[in-house]
Amino acid sequence: MRMHGARIIRRSWILAAAGTLAQMGFAPVWSASIDAGRAAFRQQCALCHSAEANDGGGGDAPNLLGVFGRRAAGLANYPYSKALLASGLTWDAATLDRFLSAPAAVVPGSFMRVAVPEQDTRASIIAYLQATGAASAAVNASVSVASARKPKKGSEDWRQDAPGRMHRIDVANLPPPFDSPSTANRSRILPRPPGAKLRVPAGFAINIFASDLQAPRNMRVAPNGDIFVAETAAGRIRVMRPSADGAKAQTVTIFAQGLTGPFGMQFYPAGDTPQWLYIAENNRVVRYAYTVGDIRAAGAPEIIVKELVPNSRFGHSTRDIAFSPDGRRMFVSVGSASNVAENMAKKSVAEAKAWEAEHGLGATWDTEAHRADVLVFDVGSDGPGKVFASGIRNCVGLTIQPQTGDLWCTTNERDLLGDDLVPDYSTRVKAGGYYGWPWYYMGNHEDPRLKGERPDLAGKATVPDVPYTAHSAALTLVFYNATSGRSAFPKEYVGDGFAVMHGSWNRAIRTGYKVVRVRMKNGVPTGEYDDFMVGFIISDAAVWGRPVGSAVANDGSLLISDDAGNRVYRISYHR
Ligand code: HEC
Repeated sequence: MRMHGARIIRRSWILAAAGTLAQMGFAPVWSASIDAGRAAFRQQCALCHSAEANDGGGGDAPNLLGVFGRRAAGLANYPYSKALLASGLTWDAATLDRFLSAPAAVVPGSFMRVAVPEQDTRASIIAYLQATGAASAAVNASVSVASARKPKKGSEDWRQDAPGRMHRIDVANLPPPFDSPSTANRSRILPRPPGAKLRVPAGFAINIFASDLQAPRNMRVAPNGDIFVAETAAGRIRVMRPSADGAKAQTVTIFAQGLTGPFGMQFYPAGDTPQWLYIAENNRVVRYAYTVGDIRAAGAPEIIVKELVPNSRFGHSTRDIAFSPDGRRMFVSVGSASNVAENMAKKSVAEAKAWEAEHGLGATWDTEAHRADVLVFDVGSDGPGKVFASGIRNCVGLTIQPQTGDLWCTTNERDLLGDDLVPDYSTRVKAGGYYGWPWYYMGNHEDPRLKGERPDLAGKATVPDVPYTAHSAALTLVFYNATSGRSAFPKEYVGDGFAVMHGSWNRAIRTGYKVVRVRMKNGVPTGEYDDFMVGFIISDAAVWGRPVGSAVANDGSLLISDDAGNRVYRISYHR
C-alpha cells in the first residue's frame, strides 16, 4: 500500500507538469502512456540511465533527466562517443523516435545500442521523458553533477593511491545511507597524458603486452601458456601467444567470433590436457572442442545451457563460469537486472518465504528470477540450473581459490546511496549463502529503499570477506599461484589474490581504476588489501585506462586487460 500511495503522489506531479507543458504549447501528454513509458523505461533503460530524481536507475550512461529538448551529448561532464558529440541532433519527439528505433543506424558509432523496436513503447517512453523533464524543473534533481566537492574526512581519495598503501573497510562503522549526495561523475577517457605512468611496488616492472585489441576483458591461460581474452562487445575470443621471453604477445589470433557478449571462459577438464573451452555468453553457455595449442576453434560450438535466465536482455550482462575442483559441478554467475530490484513485483513476507523454500534463502523473483545469483549445474546432465548462492548483485568475476577449493565472487554493489555506500567486495561463496541484495547490505544493514519489506531476512545476510571502497567497480580476482618462471613474484605473494577495479562513476571523488593485492593468511582472507597497480586516474573527471581482467601467465607475470585503452599490461618481478 505504501508503494501505491507513493506512486500516486509521483504521478500527480508529473501530470501537473504535463499540464504546464500543455500551457507552454506542447501537445498534452496522455497520462496512461506516461505510466507505460515509466514501466518500459524501468525495464529497458534504467540499468544504465536515470530519468527521475531518486528513481534508483542509472549506471554508466548519461542522466536522462531533462533530456527532452536538450541537444544530443549535452551534459558537460559525460564522456560521450565522438559520434554522438558530432551528431548535431536535438532530442525532440521525432528525433528520439528515430534514434530509439535504431540507434546504431541513426548515430553510427554511438555507445547507445539499445533499440526499442515497438512503436507504441517508443511513444510511451518519449512521453515519459518529456513529462519527467518538465517535472524536474519544478523539483530539484538530487543527483548532483560532478563537482570539485571535497571528500568527507576519512573518505577514500585517489590522490593518496600508492603501491603498498593498505586499506581495510570497517563494516561496523559504515556511514548512514544518503550521508553524502549521490553524484553522477563518469570518467572521460583520454589518451595517456605525456609523463603519466602506471606505478607498481619496488622490484616490479610493467610493460605493454598487447595493444590494439577491441575492449579486452576477461582472460584465461591455457596449459601451454596461450592467453585467451574475451572481447565481449565484439563477440570475439582471441588468443595471445607470448614471445619466447614472455614480454609481449607475439601473435594475436581469433579463436572464435559471432558470440553474444562472451565473458566467462574455462578449460575443462582441469589439468594439462583439457578437451573443451567453455564460454559463458550473455544468456547461454557453449563449449568448443579444444586441443592444447589450438589457436582457432576447430568447429562450431556445442550448446551446453540454452538459456540462463528468462530476461537476460536487461541489466548486468557479463556471465562468468567456474568448475568445482572435482569437475562435477559448473557454476555460472548472473548479475541483477537492476540497481536495487526497483522493477521486481512486490510479495508479502509469506509469499516471499514460500518462494524462498523452493529457490533458496533470499532468492529474488519476477524480473530478478535467477539473477543476482550464482547458479549451479551438474556437468554432463541437461538438468536446469539451481541457485547455489543468492543476493550477490553482480558477480562479474567467479573463481576457485586453488589452495582451498573455495568458490569466490567479486562484485559491484548498488548505487545512489552516497559516496561511501555500498562497498564492493570479493568473498568466498558458500552453498545456500545469502549475501544481502537487494534488501540488505554488508550483513545486517537494511537498504532504506526497501525498508520494512523483509524483516524475516534481518541478520541472515552473510558479511562478505573483503569489502572494497564503495563504487570501485571491482570486477575480477585472480589468485597468485606461480612458484616458478622467470618473472615470478616473491614467495610471500603466493596464495594472495589480485582484484581488478574498473573504477567509479557514482562518487564525487574518483576511486578504483587500479589493481589491489588481497591479503590471505593460510588461505583465509584477512579483509585487508593494498594498492598494487595505480596511475590511470588523471583527475576527478578523466582517466586513461580502465582495468578489467587478470591472469597469471606461465612465466609468473601478472597480466591485466584495459578495455578503455584496448591493451593488456604485464607486471613482472625482477630479482
Ligand atoms: C546498456 C546501457 C544502456 C541502456 C540499457 C540504454 N542506454 Fe541510452 N545510452 C547509453 C550510453 C552509453 C549512452 C551515451 C551514448 C554515446 O555517448 O554515444 C546513451 C545515450 C542515450 C541518449 C542520448 C543522451 C544524451 O545526453 O544525448 C538517449 C536519449 C538514450 N540513451 C535513451 C535511452 C533509452 C530511452 C533507453 C531505454 C530504451 C536506453 N537509452 C537504454 C547506454 C544505455
